[in-house]
Amino acid sequence: MSAFVLRQGLVIGENSSDVLDVFIDEGRLREVSPRVDVPRGTKEIDAEGCWVGPGFVDLHTHLREPGREEAETIDSGARAGAVGGFSAVVAMPNTEPALDNAALVSYVLDRGERTLLDVAVAGAITQGRRGELLAPMAEMAALGVRIFTDDGVGVQDPSLMRRALDYAKPLGVRLAQHCEDEQLAAGGSMNEGALSSRLGLTGRPALAEELMVLRDIELVRLTGCPVHFLHLSTARSVALVVAARLEGLPVTCEVAPHHFTLDEGCLESFDPTFKVHPPLRGASDVVALRAALVSGAIDAVATDHAPHAPELKELPFDEAPPGMLGLEHAASLTYEALGADAADPTRFFELMSRGPARVAQLRAADVRPRHGAHGATMRAGEDANVVVFDPRERWTARRDTLESRALNTPYDGRAMVGRVRALVAKGELAVIDGALA
Ligand code: DOR
Repeated sequence: MSAFVLRQGLVIGENSSDVLDVFIDEGRLREVSPRVDVPRGTKEIDAEGCWVGPGFVDLHTHLREPGREEAETIDSGARAGAVGGFSAVVAMPNTEPALDNAALVSYVLDRGERTLLDVAVAGAITQGRRGELLAPMAEMAALGVRIFTDDGVGVQDPSLMRRALDYAKPLGVRLAQHCEDEQLAAGGSMNEGALSSRLGLTGRPALAEELMVLRDIELVRLTGCPVHFLHLSTARSVALVVAARLEGLPVTCEVAPHHFTLDEGCLESFDPTFKVHPPLRGASDVVALRAALVSGAIDAVATDHAPHAPELKELPFDEAPPGMLGLEHAASLTYEALGADAADPTRFFELMSRGPARVAQLRAADVRPRHGAHGATMRAGEDANVVVFDPRERWTARRDTLESRALNTPYDGRAMVGRVRALVAKGELAVIDGALA
């Protein structure tokens, strides 16, 4: 394994930040101090003016393998994650077939081991994600799966969800819910409101999401099993989770960059790139989500990176699949949402790395087969999963330079502030000067 030193970056610990050198050797942080004398031959990386912190962790990545390799593979998704500064991603189980048994989970873990990043897996809660019969969660948990979800859809039947929680609790895992009541959301393709009426598109009401958040909070109260709320999109959803957390219930939540940077106005173009579930909401929800990122109400930014082949995203609006890319722009968009120059670096790394690593049980304290530790405190001895983020860099997002196999980014041509300059993942230099090493 290679040795290298990150020189004179602002190293972001959990409670303090200092300008330090970080010497990395044999997959670990060997020394973190004001000036490290390194052995001859050590690669030097200038991090002056940059933030140096734990590699980002994405709780919500659709890698599309097996089944939709034309849109993304485990390898191409990992490369997209690396340029986005992620040292670990959690692969969602809505592949074809769904990741609902040990054999398929092992397949993704094996492939993931051959990529630049740590690829953790979320298993399905129900067989085939059909919402009818529970999947064998215990055999998947034995392989190290710590999150289960039917994402793409929520578990609609409350009694089945209750049983899933009862079954999951002794396994020490967390169920993650895609909150949308299908009856209320049925057939809708954008946020329900005045704009959907004017555009003549069927709406998915905010209530479809909020009702399931409310239901699952009550199921957490009943069962005591932790629930993570995926891609929350409304102010009220976040308020419900905050209130439940204050009551001491084991609930966590994430928001996706598109929900705090784009609003339903994008749909005036009828461009399916902007179609996503849950849908882009109104401007007041966007403002509320941004405030929630700053205040600490949100545990994690998660990308919901959802690659789709161009021929599908070019279908008429109602027929096109929902979802948009996220891995390569999430860090810059989060930095911008936290106030750019005024952003608190500790909060930034909490949202992008330590918070999600905690939810995914990927921190050093969590014993876990087949994965390194993430969300580091940046002390000597920890696993070397480290990102160098340059808060000064201004750049323009370009669809044609993405590492992802897919093209469905809503940010083509958008001005960005802050950029991942380098990434050390699994102890090796994966990204240098903003590009794959
Ligand atoms: O828009 C979405 N697309 N939302 C989801 O929950 C699933 C995702 C996908 O897999 O394409």
